[in-house]
Amino acid sequence: ESARPAQLDLAGRRVVVTAGGTREPLDPVRFLGNRSSGRQGVALAEAAAARGADVVLIAAHLEIAAPAGIELREVSTALQLQEAAALASADADIVIMAAAVADYRPVEVSEGKIKKDERGDSMTLELVRNPDILAGLAAAKKPGQVVVGFAAETEPDKAAQLELGRRKIARKGADLLVLNRVGWTEGFATERNEITVLDHAADIVLEAAGSKLSVAHRILDVIAERLS
Ligand code: CTP
Ligand code: CA
Repeated sequence: ESARPAQLDLAGRRVVVTAGGTREPLDPVRFLGNRSSGRQGVALAEAAAARGADVVLIAAHLEIAAPAGIELREVSTALQLQEAAALASADADIVIMAAAVADYRPVEVSEGKIKKDERGDSMTLELVRNPDILAGLAAAKKPGQVVVGFAAETEPDKAAQLELGRRKIARKGADLLVLNRVGWTEGFATERNEITVLDHAADIVLEAAGSKLSVAHRILDVIAERLS
């Protein structure tokens, strides 16, 4: 998009973006995953780089190519993403958790391929909760750092969705929360997005719709205002 005037308002700023969806292995050939394409996170990384930032993109199974001119760190599981995010965030000005992180992982990962004959007609997977990476990053936040979360909700009612977002940002301790609605067809593999951004006081600070790149720039406008 060329509609945006060239501006380097993030020059010299270090930005960490996580994007994509984590995968939790069950055995050497299977995993539990999600439908995040990584498009909104990649758009944020691209937009931040275009505004002069030094960008680290922590990428979990992106469906699209990562933009040029950014540092890419590829991860697979939630625990790997946590480690990479903690490392990269230590000296970051902005941390954006756009990745869809698996809430649970299998308690056991089978050494060999799980065989039907050994399991019978039904099988139960035992899962354990993954750490909340965003809450951890927000708790470890350095002075002046801006920490941003995402919340993809399937709730169709706007007011109810906002209420979920309000509770979520309070729980996470992030500075900003980007809310969007997802469903069987909306949100994930699309080029467009429609978002609402809440601040720490749970006030709406932005509503935007458009291409994921234009939405990314609007989100960065809000973040840039909060940088010291
Ligand atoms: N997130 C995270 N670590 C997790 C789960 C989520 O850092 N283990 C981050 C996501 O990257 C996102 C934000 O938290 O920025 C909100 O994710 P979401 O799945 O909407 O919230 P949850 O707290 O997992 O709640 P739930 O899925 O039950 O709605
Ligand atoms: Ca979740």
